[in-house]
Amino acid sequence: MNIILLGPPGAGKGTQSAGLVERHSMRQLSTGDMLRAAVKGGTPVGLKAKAVMDRGELVSDEIVSELIDANLAAMDKGEGAIFDGYPRTAAQAEDLDRILAKHGRSLDHVIELGVDVDALVERITGRFSCAKCGALYHDTANPPSKEGVCDVCGSTEFKRRPDDNEETVRTRMDEYRAKTAPILPGYEARGIVTRVDGMAGIEEVATAIDAILA
Ligand code: AP5
Ligand code: MG
Repeated sequence: MNIILLGPPGAGKGTQSAGLVERHSMRQLSTGDMLRAAVKGGTPVGLKAKAVMDRGELVSDEIVSELIDANLAAMDKGEGAIFDGYPRTAAQAEDLDRILAKHGRSLDHVIELGVDVDALVERITGRFSCAKCGALYHDTANPPSKEGVCDVCGSTEFKRRPDDNEETVRTRMDEYRAKTAPILPGYEARGIVTRVDGMAGIEEVATAIDAILA
């Protein structure tokens, strides 16, 4: 199974990917996470990407498509892939078709997480994650069950993303509207898009996604 989770910043792509990894043993391929790892590691890709990401703009198609290709190459054929935050442009959507074919895969579902734009800024400015295992939380919507302790690994250190400020979020949303939303009709024409209400609670969204994959 190969699926795309599509939605604007803060729609819940990362949150739902983590659930799918757990429930269905699929692999999450988040270009955002890959780029943040490259920035942290100071690699050539990270050095190129950092300023672009800090502004909330999109990194080049070549860089992200190469990351996806390399990650798919390292996966077992039978392992399902969740594309989180990729593709984000028409060129990336074309790249993905080509890369999937190269690895003997094809796209099963595009799941669109529909969300109110007004809610997204609040979601993003309230987001934090475990500094050790990366588990995602939100100040009010999804705090750890014991304050200050990660539910998953027990760490007491948390971090916030440098691009999670109101100004950058607005640019990220503009990029989504201008470059990412226009790839949806192409997938709709292929009959593989299902829209899920991303404003519902995290568990409800997960149930709706599972129904699509069943
Ligand atoms: P990326 O990391 O992909 O960021 P994004 O698309 O802006 O999406 P987010 O990670 O902010 O949101 P999400 O949908 O994952 O939401 P989450 O589950 O965390 O990209 C970052 C940057 O990297 C880009 O700006 C760009 O520069 C670059 N980049 C990455 N991919 C690229 C590509 N393909 N091409 C070019 N450049 C690329 O949830 C958000 C918060 O809400 C959390 O706190 C969570 O707990 C909470 N929450 C989640 N679901 C719910 C719910 N149902 N109810 C209430 N709260 C919820
Ligand atoms: Mg994410």
